[in-house]
This record gives sequence, C-alpha cells and structure tokens, in this order.
Amino acid sequence: MIPESFIQDLLTRIDIVDLIDRYVHLKKAGANYIACCPFHSEKTPSFSVSPSKQFYYCFGCGAHGTAISFLMEYQGLGFVEAIRELASSIGVAVPDERHDGDSSQKRETLRDLLEVMARARDFYREALKKSEKAVNYLKERGLSGETAARFGIGYAPEGWNSLKAAFPDSYDYQQLLTVGLVLESEEGRRYDRFRDRIIFPIINSKGETIGFGGRVIGQGEPKYLNSPETPLFEKGRELFGLPQARQTLRAENRAIVVEGYMDVVALAEHGVGNALATLGTATTREHAQKLLRQVDAVVFCFDGDNAGRKAAWRALENTLDSLTEQKSVSFTFLPEAEDPDSFIRKKGKKAFDNLIREAAPLSSFLINELKKQCDLTSAEGRARLVADAKPLLLRLSTPFLRLQLVKQLAAESGFSQAEVERLCGIQSYAPKPPLAKPKRSAPSLARTLARLALQRPALAGRIPLELLPPSEERAILEVILTNLPRLPSAPTYAQLREQLRGHPLEAEFNILAGEWMQLQLAEDKIEHEFLDALTRLQENKRKSEFADLQKKASQFGITGLTAEEKEHYKASAGKNRSDPYR
Ligand code: UTP
Ligand code: MN
Repeated sequence: MIPESFIQDLLTRIDIVDLIDRYVHLKKAGANYIACCPFHSEKTPSFSVSPSKQFYYCFGCGAHGTAISFLMEYQGLGFVEAIRELASSIGVAVPDERHDGDSSQKRETLRDLLEVMARARDFYREALKKSEKAVNYLKERGLSGETAARFGIGYAPEGWNSLKAAFPDSYDYQQLLTVGLVLESEEGRRYDRFRDRIIFPIINSKGETIGFGGRVIGQGEPKYLNSPETPLFEKGRELFGLPQARQTLRAENRAIVVEGYMDVVALAEHGVGNALATLGTATTREHAQKLLRQVDAVVFCFDGDNAGRKAAWRALENTLDSLTEQKSVSFTFLPEAEDPDSFIRKKGKKAFDNLIREAAPLSSFLINELKKQCDLTSAEGRARLVADAKPLLLRLSTPFLRLQLVKQLAAESGFSQAEVERLCGIQSYAPKPPLAKPKRSAPSLARTLARLALQRPALAGRIPLELLPPSEERAILEVILTNLPRLPSAPTYAQLREQLRGHPLEAEFNILAGEWMQLQLAEDKIEHEFLDALTRLQENKRKSEFADLQKKASQFGITGLTAEEKEHYKASAGKNRSDPYR
C-alpha cells in the first residue's frame, strides 16, 4: 500500500498539463488546454485539460481523470505503476519501496542497466548495416529497411566478445551479466549471449530497451534466444511491438496478439500495425490486463496446430478476470502450416483482415473447446461439460456474458438454466435499479453548490449542509467534507478525486466533473458564484421560516407567537417586502 499522503503530495508537485503535453500536444484555449483526444479518433479537439483542477475531460468520448488515470489509460499501467512513473518523473521514490534497501542506489543501477541495453541496441543496429548476410536474410524474408528501422532490428556479429566494442571506455562485466548480454562458463570464461543472430529489441511502453530476442540466420538450433529475466525484464508482463503499435491500437481500438517476433514485424510490413507478440511465453493475466486497458477488442491469432490451440486456451483462461462487458476477446486460427507472417505474405492484407474479422468470440471458442473434450451423446459427457465450465464461469465478472454462457451450456447439456446456475454456484443476475439522475437543465441550488465544491473542494467546509434537503448532491458534499481533513490545504479536484478512487459515488462525481468542464467557469468567478449560491441558500431558509411563522400567525394570531418569533417575523416581513425576487 502506498500512503495516501504520498499520492496527495505527488499530485501537488506534478502538473497534469506538463504530463499530458509530453504525450499529446496541448494548445492553450482560455483557461484550459485542448488537443485532439488521444483516446478516440477525431479531427477537431474535444479533449480538454484544466490546470486549476488538474483534470482532463473529453467531450467527445467522455474520457476523464487525473494525472494518474491518464498514465493508466494512456500507457496501460496499473495504479501502482502509474504512481511509480509519476514519482520517478520528478525524481522521488515511492515510500513503500523506500525502505527496501537503498533505493536511490537501486534506481541508479537500473538507469545504468538501461544505458547498457541502449548501447547494445545501438551497437547491434550499426552492425546490421555492416553485415550483408544479415541484411540479405531480412530482405529474403520480405522486410523493408523502413520496417527494420521501425522495430530497431539489428545484428549481433559472430565472435565470442564482439559486444565489447560497444563499450570502449566502460566495459562492465557485472552489468552485462546482470542484463543477460554476457554469460559466464563454468571455467569463468565470459562470452556474448547473442552471436551471429538477427536481433529484435524488446521495448517497453516508455520506449526503453529492456531485452532482446535473437534469431539464428537460416536454419539452426535454438531458433531463437531471448534475454533472460533480469531486473529490467519480466517476460510475463511485456509484449513485443507495443510502442510501435501504440498509434494503430488507439485508432482501431483493437489489438491482435500473435505468437512470433517475425509475425509482428511482417504484419507491420504489410500495413497491419496493431499486432503484438508475447515473448515465447503463454499469454499471462498481466498481458491480458495490459491489453484490455488500452483497447476494447483483443483478437488472439494463433497457429492452427495443437500448440496454437493450447496457447489460445491459456490466453482464454488468463483473460477471464480482466474481461468487462464492454470488452470483446476473440480467437482466430491460421490455416495449417501457416503463421501470420507466411499468411500475409502469400495472401495479402485483405485476407488477413478477413481472418481477424471472422474471429470466434470468446464464448463460442470456450464452449466449442469444452465440447471437444466431452461426448455429448452420453449423460456423463453432458454432465462433464458443465463441470468443466464451472471454474471458468466463476472467474468471469461479467454477469451478462456469463448468463449467455449459462444459457448455451444449458442448451448443450440438457440441464435447465436454473440447474446450470445452481450446479455452478452462480447467483442469477438481478439488475440493480438505475440511480435516479436529477434534471440537467436548471441545476438545483444543491447541484450548483456541489459543482462549485468539486472545482474547489475547500468550499465544502463553508456550506451549511443542514440547510440542504437530503439529495445525491448533499451526499456528495458530505463526502467532500469528510475527506477534506485528509487532503492538503486548498486541494485540487484531482486530489479529491484520487482520494475517492473506488468510492461508491464515483460515477456521480464524474458526471458533475463533466458538467463543470462544460460550463468553463473562470477561476476568478468561482468565489462570486459560491457566495451567490450561499446567499440564495440562506434566503431560502429565511423564506421557509417566514412561511412557517406566517402560517402560525394566521392560525393563532400574532399573539400566538413567542416574543422571539414576533421579532423574527417583523424583521422577515420587512425583508420580504423589499425582496425583488418575490
Ligand atoms: P515461431 O517458431 O513461430 O517463430 O515461434 P516465428 O516468429 O514464426 O519465427 P520465424 O518465422 O521462424 O523466423 C514463435 C515465438 O516463440 C519464441 C519466439 O518468441 C518466437 O517468436 N521462440 C521460438 C523462442 O523463444 N525460442 C525458440 O527457439 C523458438
Ligand atoms: Mn514464422
């Protein structure tokens, strides 16, 4: 757990405009900054960033959030990763990690290791230019120089210690051993891991080279050598081709997962820019999570052989947890003896696009694969179908999709829907009534106050909440008020919002934030609007008290009022007469 105070402090110190501007070019427009939205494709800017609220909002697609959410959405990072990234951008260590050893030293060495990798990458790339044999091999495989450059493809020369040349003045065995570029034999002889191989740099979403894959030129065993797991590189989390695919991923909102380095590269060569590969490992949950955070549709495109089907099944199992109702995951398989590389070279982009379009949705792949394992002509087989599906159904957190699967399983197995649900221990889905939304046209006083308090949370402390009738807005103001003591003084909306990550009223906060982004109320008008709203609130109170007294007076006569009430009544009557709003 990262302490709240650290997150708040971080949000005080960074500026969302600087952050987002690093990825999307922002233009000043009034009090805010605008750009074409990085989360959907558009021609005119509807993405707005507010420096005073430290918040972004897209009027086109509704994307919104804080600096932390931006990194999570844009780079596909987890919450903690995003915090870490923000922290390192201003050179501070995340406290949780501060006490495991001397972390400033640790960061120092990570930076050194990245530097070693970058040098090696450059060295390999230069070496490719000098190797006719390697260039010819790539040409034979249909790669243009452009694509090779786009992926930073290189060549590791022959010889046991070629890499030394990349470090003329700073050859540090220890570092090279740590990043796995150099190996040590039992006799203590040190030698390069990659020799006479085509090199595929593995680049993370920050653009750092964290590993390499090396392919033998022509025939030979092993066909590929990969960097081992190192402090920089965890296979189960990384995808080959991610930074190169970023733009297309966003434009198409779809990722294609293939098995090999060459598949990714060949697809890019033929204009399919959204392909990624796992690194000789199965698709992990981290992979699935990372992908589904960035796009709404993931297509697994694997070889049609047994190994490919197994890989697809593993991918299915590991995607179940990250699925949401809005996301689609599907599976497609290549004809026998083809892989995406050979397929697209022979048949072209159109045929490949068709293959992707015809991918089977997760639900049908799941049921069909399970059916293959069971003999549905026997009672035992039909029972087994449901028993096999049970653990998978339970991992799904998508009630609608799960219900669809339950219905299909019921049809296939001959159980009733209720029986399948009971056998699998699934609660049938009971829809929750939607939250009543107040009218948007003329905001109530409470809504105006809530909007203002969101823009400047400290204002919540000045609102006499007891004067507001119970409402969603009052609940929101109460939440702000209870959270104020845990926030820095004069917190921004972003700081409040991060404090409330996961809060049950999150959706309502988002709706309100959208409203005030739309209103574009200038910073220096906020106090004025607020005072105005407070005055109206007091005024309403006075009026309703006066109405009560009037009622009492008309019932019991003026003598029926206490001395205090009489005083009040007279004062109010005077005010009410001069009230222009009456
Ligand atoms: P493939 O054998 O399908 O490789 O292995 P490929 O990418 O199609 O390569 P070409 O077309 O023969 O050149 C798929 C992936 O499995 C991993 C690599 O990541 C490879 O891209 N692999 C394969 C290894 O790590 N080691 C191997 O020896 C073979
Ligand atoms: Mn291949």
